[in-house]
Amino acid sequence: MVHFDWKEFEKNMDEQYSHIPVMHQEIAEYLRLPVGGCCVDGTLGMGGHTRLLAQQVGPTGKIIAIDRDRQSLETAKKNLEPVADRIVFVQDDFRNIDRILDGLQIKSVDGVVLDLGISSFQLDNEQRGFSIKANGPLDMRMDQDSWFSAYDLINSLSEKELSLILKDYGQERWHNRIARRLVQERSLRPIETTKDLSDIVLKAIPSGQKWQKIHPATRTFQAFRIAVNRELESLDIALERIVPYVKPQGRICVISFHSLEDRIVKNKFRSFAESGEINLVSKKPLLVSSQEEQVNPRSRSARLRVAERL
Ligand SMILES: C[S@@+](CC[C@H](N)C(=O)[O-])C[C@H]1O[C@@H](n2cnc3c(N)ncnc32)[C@H](O)[C@@H]1O
Repeated sequence: MVHFDWKEFEKNMDEQYSHIPVMHQEIAEYLRLPVGGCCVDGTLGMGGHTRLLAQQVGPTGKIIAIDRDRQSLETAKKNLEPVADRIVFVQDDFRNIDRILDGLQIKSVDGVVLDLGISSFQLDNEQRGFSIKANGPLDMRMDQDSWFSAYDLINSLSEKELSLILKDYGQERWHNRIARRLVQERSLRPIETTKDLSDIVLKAIPSGQKWQKIHPATRTFQAFRIAVNRELESLDIALERIVPYVKPQGRICVISFHSLEDRIVKNKFRSFAESGEINLVSKKPLLVSSQEEQVNPRSRSARLRVAERL
């Protein structure tokens, strides 16, 4: 197994934006990249996994590091300066993976990593509108050049459409009540901030439901984030497109954080396995170790699925 020099890694990270890569030991172990290999990191974030992969492939290898988020890309570039010689940075949606690889004239890769969702860098910046805990504009776009934000969806979709988003992407039990309340409130004034949204959710749900382990608006935030970024669609398309580019015995590692993502990975892997294109390395998803959970509580819900190309 590759030794990951964590201290050396952290020394080179931008302190303010350091991001602990989830399940880094498992990624190193299961991906088993060869020296001189080529790998796609579809979710660069702060560069935690990319750095690990860059160490594995060494100076003769290549990592294609993709993120939709321009700010993340700039920060990751700084974090990864010591290994930048072997990284190609790309600002794009990972659903375009085939076009990206074709453009770089890369015919096949030894591995792929997707660490889904958003990073602490995005979550902790209140101006990005992802967090329930801090008040900020209702944005939630990973790609800040994309043309609609959570504000646009929440203030313009019909009650039925809002309800469907909450049900399908948030698995929110009170989807009808929350959608109705959103429409009532926005008829008085636009819903502009993350605090407006969480206050409306609290008003919409029955009073006995207000004290839960997680904030009652968590599912609403998840739902709108998924809708704004069309996250599930991107994941489905990316998995479909990437498999043909992976070399025999190359591996695909996907870390998901909720059941909607995990179900897509499970079903896609299963259908590729049925058609004889991949082997499932682990039948069940791998979970975070208790030691990692203690150091990084945000990793708690991570699930890793690994497939090998036949
Ligand atoms: C959980 S973070 C990844 C953290 C990263 N592995 C690290 O170690 O720093 C997910 C990142 O993927 C990006 N992302 C999510 N969906 C994407 C997509 N469809 N295309 C490109 N980037 C995406 C997000 O902008 C975010 O920066």
